[in-house]
Amino acid sequence: MKKKITVIGAGHVGATAAQLVAQSGIADVVLFDIVEGLPQGKALDIAEACPLWGSASSVVGTSDYADTSGSDIVVITAGLARKPGMSRDDLLKANADIVRGVTEAVAKASPDAMLVLVTNPMDVMTQLAWKASGFAHAKVMGMGGVLDSSRFRTFVAWKAGVSPRDVEALVLGGHGDQMVPMPRFTTVKGIPITELFSEDTVKALIERTRNGGAEIVAHLKTGSAYYAPGASVFEMVKSIVLDEKRMLPTAAYLGGEYGVDGVYAGVPAILGAGGVEKIVELKLTTEEKEGFDRSVSAVRGLIDNLGIK
Ligand code: NAI
Repeated sequence: MKKKITVIGAGHVGATAAQLVAQSGIADVVLFDIVEGLPQGKALDIAEACPLWGSASSVVGTSDYADTSGSDIVVITAGLARKPGMSRDDLLKANADIVRGVTEAVAKASPDAMLVLVTNPMDVMTQLAWKASGFAHAKVMGMGGVLDSSRFRTFVAWKAGVSPRDVEALVLGGHGDQMVPMPRFTTVKGIPITELFSEDTVKALIERTRNGGAEIVAHLKTGSAYYAPGASVFEMVKSIVLDEKRMLPTAAYLGGEYGVDGVYAGVPAILGAGGVEKIVELKLTTEEKEGFDRSVSAVRGLIDNLGIK
């Protein structure tokens, strides 16, 4: 039997992620939204593309949690997106209420599911969903690092004049303004960019990556990025569904790794059929560790602010 993947929120990111899953044919898809008609219309549209993609996925749109029951993975994108001038953190309170409600309903309908959180501020929402679901922490994770790393890869590839396929990049920490792009672990066919580019160039690439989301918001004016975010969700979901054991930067629960206890933060993790199967600990330099700690403190501050216990 095919796996069942529910996407909560049929907006830009949710619908794009649903499309990519359906297009690949790796699982059946349920698209859920509270706006009556939106998930039904988009799901029907995606279903009607499946013959052209050669996909046998079933795609259903709904506003009824009963249709999501027995899901293997639930991707949560429900919430408000950033408007120009708005930081991810401004979204905190509004989205916390939405994510708490969604998580409780999802956990009831699909007690064995894994949760992939997308709603911003994502690290905090992941912590909230873990608490609200009562699920094991290996089954609750957030998407942010895959996107940030893909942005970093793009900018490095353009600068080096090479295919993005030959660029690997790593971004650690929270998916916020304090994210920590890691030039030492960012390579063109194995060559660290610190050896390829001047210090100023590396700094500029890091800065553009940090502002990657805001750069797109400034262009769009009425919403935020969704193609690369949707593709990033798909990368994580695929690794779990196909048990690929990809090492992907993931917002994962840290229970002592990186010297941090009890908080979700972006770290390299192995994603497979068991969810977050392993957290990969890198030896960080003092400067890298300071950047990571600052980023984690920012996330912890928001968690405290919300009173998540
Ligand atoms: P969007 O506004 O296009 O879609 C959000 C959808 O959520 C809307 O259709 C809305 O009706 C729905 N929704 C609201 N409350 C709901 C509820 N209680 N139950 C079910 N659905 C509900 O927004 P977009 O662009 O899809 O972004 C979604 C979220 O993802 C935002 O918080 C955004 O900031 C975040 N995001 C996170 C990224 C990351 O890397 N983690 C990247 C891109 C976006």
